[in-house]
Amino acid sequence: MPSMETIERLAQAMQLDPGWLGFGSGAGLGPQITVTPNFDPDKLVADLLAILKGNAGIIDDVYKYLDPVGAHEWIAMLKQPEFGQLVSSLPLNDLIDCLTNVLDTEQSCDLVGLGCGTAEREIALIRKLLGRRRRDLRLILIDISVNLLSLAVKTSDIFSKTHAVPVLALLGDFHALPEYAHLMTGAHQRRRVITMFGYTFSNLDNEVQFLRRSMSWVNHEDFLILDIPAAATTSSDPAEIARKDGALARRKDGDWHRTAFQFLTGPLRRNLEQVVDCKVHTELDQSSCVIPGSYAIVNKATVKLLSGREKRFVIGYTKRYDPDKLGQHMEREGWRLLHRLSYGADGLGVVAVFQRCDPPKPKRGRKPKNA
Ligand SMILES: C[S@@+](CC[C@H](N)C(=O)[O-])C[C@H]1O[C@@H](n2cnc3c(N)ncnc32)[C@H](O)[C@@H]1O
Repeated sequence: MPSMETIERLAQAMQLDPGWLGFGSGAGLGPQITVTPNFDPDKLVADLLAILKGNAGIIDDVYKYLDPVGAHEWIAMLKQPEFGQLVSSLPLNDLIDCLTNVLDTEQSCDLVGLGCGTAEREIALIRKLLGRRRRDLRLILIDISVNLLSLAVKTSDIFSKTHAVPVLALLGDFHALPEYAHLMTGAHQRRRVITMFGYTFSNLDNEVQFLRRSMSWVNHEDFLILDIPAAATTSSDPAEIARKDGALARRKDGDWHRTAFQFLTGPLRRNLEQVVDCKVHTELDQSSCVIPGSYAIVNKATVKLLSGREKRFVIGYTKRYDPDKLGQHMEREGWRLLHRLSYGADGLGVVAVFQRCDPPKPKRGRKPKNA
């Protein structure tokens, strides 16, 4: 069984399609699954338990998906009608039009899904790319949840075999990408289309550091597709934001909130003993965001234990962006905005396509006259 790299090298030498050489039309091998080096889920569990021992702390997003029940609850959320409608309204056809305009037909290309979850959008996107007769495509799926990545692999299996598109599933932390990005490289440079669907970018603690550190392996001219929520208003007045933003303004007893809060409180309910009450409180945070024009919605939980002790944890952190200001800031970080699409009933879902470029050189100030 040759490795993907060997197949690629042989195919390159013989000027053949690596997908065809490796898997043959209609007779592919199916996805290849790799646990990334240094990935240590047990250490993550130990970290979570240590946080929960304290009276207060921050429960990172990762912990909700690591646990099999958390992953199960995420899948249930995807099936929730309001959420499902938003997800299915993502304008994939327009996105493909944009990509086919900018992708070189002759160049080999990898679609890299970061935090892919069940990878439905990534698979739909690569199917559409194939429909536009792009050759030599690979699908690379990266996620920290065994359960979600296993589902993604299952869904991509038939597609991989019938379309002879190699699928590589990497189980690991996307913050550690520079440590294992070599697993994605082959004998020659391939154009990458990196995706972050499902508002994953907006859940990051510090998006700028993520771009600088975790995305440092990306090549010049590679593409990044971000799916993010837009700010409900351009006003920075807290009262106006509270009036307009659904997460702050909506009643908290609907189906959507019940399912979402169930998911958010999972790490607390499952790992703290003798919880008698768990209340969620949603707040606006305008001071912790690093992208100009953005604000955050923070969900905090107060947990009451049988002993009468109370603990408080931040259990959810999601940013909302001013799309123009995000575009300007991304350019300063070396990501040029090529295209932007809005979706969803309120038009607040945004898919933006960026291309890696050199960041603009800082303008030189004039020397003071008598310096
Ligand atoms: C908001 S969900 C989005 C899932 C999927 N992209 C979608 O649109 O349905 C975030 C995903 O990112 C994954 N994730 C969160 N933190 C991660 C990390 N540090 N490294 C890798 N995956 C991560 C989760 O397991 C989850 O699948």
